[in-house]
Amino acid sequence: MELSITQPDDWHLHLRDGDLLEGVIPHSAKHFGRAIVMPNLKPPITTTAAALAYRESILKALPKDSSFTPLMTLYLTDMTSPDEIKRAKKSGAVYGVKLYPAGATTNSQDGVTDLFGKCFPVLEEMVEQDLPLLVHGEVTDPNVDIFDREKVYIETILVPLVQKLPQLKIVMEHITTMDAVKFVMSCKEGSVGATVTPQHLILNRNALFQGGLQPHNYCLPVLKREIHRQAIVSAVTSGSKRFFLGTDSAPHEKRKKECACGCAGIFNAPVALSVYAKVFEEAGALDKLEAFTSFNGSDFYGLPRNKSKLTLKKAPWKVPELLSFPFGDIVPMFAGGTLEWEVSLN
Ligand code: DOR
Ligand code: ZN
Repeated sequence: MELSITQPDDWHLHLRDGDLLEGVIPHSAKHFGRAIVMPNLKPPITTTAAALAYRESILKALPKDSSFTPLMTLYLTDMTSPDEIKRAKKSGAVYGVKLYPAGATTNSQDGVTDLFGKCFPVLEEMVEQDLPLLVHGEVTDPNVDIFDREKVYIETILVPLVQKLPQLKIVMEHITTMDAVKFVMSCKEGSVGATVTPQHLILNRNALFQGGLQPHNYCLPVLKREIHRQAIVSAVTSGSKRFFLGTDSAPHEKRKKECACGCAGIFNAPVALSVYAKVFEEAGALDKLEAFTSFNGSDFYGLPRNKSKLTLKKAPWKVPELLSFPFGDIVPMFAGGTLEWEVSLN
């Protein structure tokens, strides 16, 4: 069986920098036409100038024949100015502003502490400039159970935000709960969308502990209960235009995952399309796959759809146990496992 689809884009991707960037970028560039590149580097990409410089280093790291296009983002802080938003839009290289609640995840320590206060003029300028807000939707209050952080963020931040600024375009990134599905569905189509990762579609929280602690399944937001997984599978396979592909592929070296205080993040770039195809096939919704992988995201961002095609073949292939680079090893999602759908490049 073969499936020819329009080339997909990745609307949420961590490419890192330096050696790590060089090592991982071919895996995304092989399958995806464009990607929204996350700005949580050390130091974070808080200015247009930094985003442009990062874009150059990404382009330099690309394989020679690649036409992969990085779509840059700014990292929102309490100090971001409305002028920076104007510069970002004018550059033509920045496509969104990422909101990390301070302390929510990897390199989020410079993130936002006062969204409705200090950041509000910036949000208003984003409406003016038609730049979407890309949200890591989790509260950071240590008193809130980690499995409830998305739900509480929706109730305390996103619902009031949509009420106060209904014209702001919002992408709720890597949704993990039925609460997020309900929230996105309750908003105006085209104004609030959501990315969905392979791991949150195929794994539930049991995968963190199956046969012992599984650090390579640890990401943030953390995997949730089976009922939530089923809710997001239903959402993406329903054909709704509000949900689109965002891998959240987030590489960390093996030694930084397999240690006492392991990093959050799953390197899924090599397997993402195979996993999405499996999820849609199991839901009997292969006819809805292409819209999710290749249309809904570009339509939401107001960008043209890709013209080139990519073929998915039903042919089992083995995921490598390990990817070795000069700087160290990375363990990909489903390392050592077999996946049924293979990407064959035209
Ligand atoms: O698991 C994650 N890893 N979640 C995030 O939000 C950040 C990412 C990373 O940068 O490693
Ligand atoms: Zn991410």
